[in-house]
Amino acid sequence: MPSSLVTAAYVFAGVLFILSLGGLSTQETARRGNKLGIVGMLIAIVVTALDARVTGYQILLPAVLVGALIGAVLAARVAMTSMPELVAMLHSFVGAAAVLVGFASYLDPNQTLTGTEAVIHQVEVFVGVFIGAITLTGSLIAYAKLKGSISGKPLMLPARHAINMGMVLGCIYLGTRFVGVPDPTAVAAHTAVQPLIIMTAIAGVIGVHMVMAIGGADMPVVVSMLNSYSGWAAAAAGFMLSNDLLIITGALVGSSGAILSYIMCAAMNRSFFSVILGGFGTAGGTAASSASSEPQGEVVSVNASETAEMLSSAQNVIVIPGYGMAAAQAQYPLHEIAKTLREAGANVRFAIHPVAGRLPGHMNVLLAEANVPYDIVLEMDEINHDFPETDVVIVIGANDIVNPGALDDPSSAIYGMPVLECWKARTTVVMKRSMASGYAGVDNPLFYKTNTRMLFGDAKKNVEAILGELREQSKAA
Ligand code: TAP
Repeated sequence: MPSSLVTAAYVFAGVLFILSLGGLSTQETARRGNKLGIVGMLIAIVVTALDARVTGYQILLPAVLVGALIGAVLAARVAMTSMPELVAMLHSFVGAAAVLVGFASYLDPNQTLTGTEAVIHQVEVFVGVFIGAITLTGSLIAYAKLKGSISGKPLMLPARHAINMGMVLGCIYLGTRFVGVPDPTAVAAHTAVQPLIIMTAIAGVIGVHMVMAIGGADMPVVVSMLNSYSGWAAAAAGFMLSNDLLIITGALVGSSGAILSYIMCAAMNRSFFSVILGGFGTAGGTAASSASSEPQGEVVSVNASETAEMLSSAQNVIVIPGYGMAAAQAQYPLHEIAKTLREAGANVRFAIHPVAGRLPGHMNVLLAEANVPYDIVLEMDEINHDFPETDVVIVIGANDIVNPGALDDPSSAIYGMPVLECWKARTTVVMKRSMASGYAGVDNPLFYKTNTRMLFGDAKKNVEAILGELREQSKAA
């Protein structure tokens, strides 16, 4: 394929990626955005494979087919609740790819760069492998934390900032030993590559240490930061391979991930710079203390029919979904309840906390899947002032995002995080299975408030029971 055609196709694919990101910014256009992204990626893969520099189709084709098959099966099988782990795993692949591309392009015997060009290439390799190794190990730890294979509690080593700084300085020193060494393919190749290997190992430890130090409630920031890192790792691979589209795509992912991290930080009330510098706002923070996760009082429980009665006599209802709604897959009957109440004249809205669930936009995706109209799904800032005028709030499988301790308990691990202030409503019904704490591992004083009622049990079963009661009532009326 002529290089001018390749360039034109890359520009076209780049434009499709930008339009795709634009589409993903609102729920109404998200599907179209996804489709544009898929078309852009197909063009990118096909055109890259047809590039004159690409040979060895007998290896490439089976590899692509096997990879595509594994990806398709995994994506089709993954439960919505396991999406964050899948995303973290995919980030780790990008990191691994950047490391492998870095080593391969450095050791490529056909590499003919000399002088300044060779030095620039060595810098690209070194930086690319550094970012890639951090992304690889950091994402693997994030995967294990999200899956629950390792504890969500932050690992607070003494002098951890100094350790990180020491490791970064060590990598910079190795960089000075690596960059500028002439002719890496000559006899001295094995000694020239040593600093690169040692740096890869250190960067891998930085990735592990950085993510291990993050407490449970700060994981959303880590997920979006690793998303951003994976973009920069891809961009670095693009520089190493002189592939413009990979540079553009990597920069798009890297910068959109950074913007998302900024939004997440604002939502969690964390300083963006402390996150970037690896502080993650936990310098003075604590892991959830055992005392804070002990139940602190009496709770009043209700059953599905009492909840249905409260709902049918309410004028203003707000539903707050959380991770438990996703786990129970309760969004479909929940939408039916909202529809039934709205048909009876009630004002029913959904309130979405920016870190509800386990993925940015997790709740929006589930509610859209169940066809909940977009105009009754509101962000926290849009609805938080409306609770005092609300008759009934249904908290379904949410916990940390409705914890009043985040506002008034400085010892809480989530202190400072803005939350949905549902306790200001006349009555709040909390649907969950037990008194267990949420992701951050802290007890929730909301459960013990005099205007809170607990509806224990699986969210889907309870929502279906409430729906049945509401339908019975409307039949009888
Ligand atoms: P959580 O605080 O994790 O609370 C979820 C609650 O759902 C649990 O207390 C659990 O209580 C209940 N639950 C689980 N399965 C259920 C089921 N089948 N039926 C009914 N209830 C069920 O969730 P949240 O309020 O959505 O807050 C999100 C948390 O995750 C925050 O701490 C956030 O920082 C963190 N996080 C978010 C993200 C992103 S990007 N959104 C990423 C990583 C971490 P029971 O066990 O008693 O049922």
